Amino acid sequence: MDGADPDRWSLVAQDWSRLWGDLAAPAWDALLRASEAGAGARVLDVGCGSGDLLAHLEARGLRVAGVDPAPGMLAQARARLPGADLRPGDAESLTWGDGAFDLVTAVNALQFADDVDAALAELVRVTAPGGHVAVASWAEDSRNDLATIEAAVAAADGEESLPEGELRGAGGLEALLADAGLTLVEAGLVDTPWDAADDETLVRAVLLGEDDATIATTAPVVLAAAAPFRRTDGSYRLACAFRYAVARRPAPTRAAPAAPRA
Ligand SMILES: C[S@@+](CC[C@H](N)C(=O)[O-])C[C@H]1O[C@@H](n2cnc3c(N)ncnc32)[C@H](O)[C@@H]1O
Repeated sequence: MDGADPDRWSLVAQDWSRLWGDLAAPAWDALLRASEAGAGARVLDVGCGSGDLLAHLEARGLRVAGVDPAPGMLAQARARLPGADLRPGDAESLTWGDGAFDLVTAVNALQFADDVDAALAELVRVTAPGGHVAVASWAEDSRNDLATIEAAVAAADGEESLPEGELRGAGGLEALLADAGLTLVEAGLVDTPWDAADDETLVRAVLLGEDDATIATTAPVVLAAAAPFRRTDGSYRLACAFRYAVARRPAPTRAAPAAPRA
C-alpha cells in the first residue's frame, strides 16, 4: 500500500493497531533509555499512528503529544489517550512552537515524508535546546523475514520489490541526524520479532490494506513464502529488526565575556 497516502492509513488504522501496533516496542525502550526522558518530560511522537508508543510513554509519566496526517489513525490514538495533545498534520509542517518538547520521536514514519530533510528540520525546531530527537525504522531487508514474504508477493504480481532506501542500512539514521546539526548520543540495532497466532492473522497482517478478493488470491503465496517461519503449533514468528538513533539538539553556546581592556 502507498505509505504516503493518509486515506490508506485511515482505512487500516484498527488493523494496524491490532496487528502491528507494538512491533517496535523493543526499539521504544532503546529510544527512551538513550534520551533519558523521565516522568514529566514533554514528548512529541511524529507519525504517531494509533498512539501505541504514546500510550507506553504516558504510562511512564511523560506528557505526551502526537501528530499524524491520517484521521483514522488519529481517532485510534484519541480513543486511547483522551488527555493528549493530538493534532492532524505532516512531519514537514508541525504546528507547535520552537523548543516545545524535551523529546521528539518518529518511529517507522519519517520514510513516508515527501521531504525527509524538511521533516527532520521541523523535528529539530520543536525540540528544546539540550533535548533529544529519537528516530527508529525498519532495518535492511536482509534482517527481516517479512521482506522475504513481501518479495514473494511482489514476484507473484510480476513486480519488483520496493527499493530499501538509504535510511535503513547501517549509518543511515545517524547521518540523517548529523546532517540536521544534532549531536549523536546512541545508535543501534534492535530485534523486533513479530508473531502471528495462525494463518489468517499472518495473511491479514502481510496484506494489510488489500481488498478481500486480493487477499483470497494472494494468501497461498504468503503462506508458501512463510512456511520456513511456521512453528509446530501453526503460529509464526518472523525475525525482524529496527535501527534507531538518538541525538541531542546542542544548547546554544554562551558568548565568552569580553576581556577587560587594559
Ligand atoms: C507505519 S505507520 C507507523 C505508526 C506508528 N509510528 C507506529 O510505529 O506504530 C506510519 C505512520 O506515518 C504516518 N505518516 C505518513 N506520512 C507522514 C508524514 N508526512 N508525516 C508524519 N506522519 C506520516 C501515517 O499516517 C502512519 O500513521
